[in-house]
Amino acid sequence: MFSRAAIRTLAAPSSRLFSSSSARQTKVAVLGAGGGIGQPLSLLLKNDPLVTSLSLYDIRGAPGVAADVGHVDTGSEVQGYTADQLDEALEGAKVIVIPAGVPRKPGMTRDDLFNTNASIVRDLAAAVARVAPTACVLVISNPVNSTVPIVAATLEKAGVFDPKRVFGVTTLDVVRAARFLAGITDASPADTRVTVIGGHSGATIVPLLSQSSYGKTVTGEAYEKIVNRIQFGGDEVVKAKDGAGSATLSMAYAGAKFANAVLRGLNGEKGVITPTFVKSPLFADKGVDFFSSNVELGPNGVEKIHPIGKLSAEEEKLLEACIPELKKNIEKGKAFVA
Ligand code: NAI
Repeated sequence: MFSRAAIRTLAAPSSRLFSSSSARQTKVAVLGAGGGIGQPLSLLLKNDPLVTSLSLYDIRGAPGVAADVGHVDTGSEVQGYTADQLDEALEGAKVIVIPAGVPRKPGMTRDDLFNTNASIVRDLAAAVARVAPTACVLVISNPVNSTVPIVAATLEKAGVFDPKRVFGVTTLDVVRAARFLAGITDASPADTRVTVIGGHSGATIVPLLSQSSYGKTVTGEAYEKIVNRIQFGGDEVVKAKDGAGSATLSMAYAGAKFANAVLRGLNGEKGVITPTFVKSPLFADKGVDFFSSNVELGPNGVEKIHPIGKLSAEEEKLLEACIPELKKNIEKGKAFVA
């Protein structure tokens, strides 16, 4: 059925999604592992050679996912945990990925999820503070612009907040930008990487096409169109799924890609740089103390927050629109915990 080359490819422990340069391995926990994102994310993490132990937690369904994913022939051990086993699930975890919470339905904004997801994320963060206070926490649950400040404030309340270890996962915006730019330039997505800054919803998503050699060739109507598509790409998926949720498969891919970057940084690999939403000084003077920009990852999590670089006139305008909305989203998250 498969050619020799295909068999070699299928058997290879890593793929373009993952790179590993070091042997040190780590326990990773997924909170919300039974969900639309959690299941494929768990599968992809099972295939990451930097993960030794995978801890899958959900209020429902995680033991089944663990039994299933646990049969994949890679080195890591997999364990599933039910609703009353959150502390056990977190024990010893170095990286905790959180896709727990409800997704959007057609017509909803990410902010419409706040009421449900804010308390889910706060309660999970409180458990992290208690059991795994030095872990890196990777927040996928929306609205990311508010859930990341909620996690930070909850850890802060418990006296264990380290700004180097709390990340909002904005990788899907970066993945979409590369894919959409490849689509209109006929280049490979490997060559159309775009830095996306700001936050993770609508107008707060600011793609810096002018900093990409392919991106800066896109002008006029095509530019307006691609910016809009990067900002509102999630809506395409929500609409096409017609009530059955939002992006899960591409999000799982993006989440696994970002988790691999964090793991490589923790393992001491140099030069691992990717946009992520973190506690940031870049726009703190404007009251925006969480912001996504290129971040170098390292043994302690955030190693260095890069400046945003030179922007085009259009990008300056996008940033102007981003800041006040992001500020509101961040304040809403903080107020929830206060
Ligand atoms: P889903 O409903 O399929 O799965 C969510 C899972 O969370 C369910 O299995 C549920 O049982 C679980 N859950 C609920 N409360 C929990 C708790 N207290 N502890 C542990 N698990 C709990 O939703 P889906 O599609 O997986 O989306 C999850 C979240 O990810 C949503 O908030 C969605 O908006 C967000 N998302 C974020 C993206 C990003 O780029 N950061 C992209 C796409 C979605």
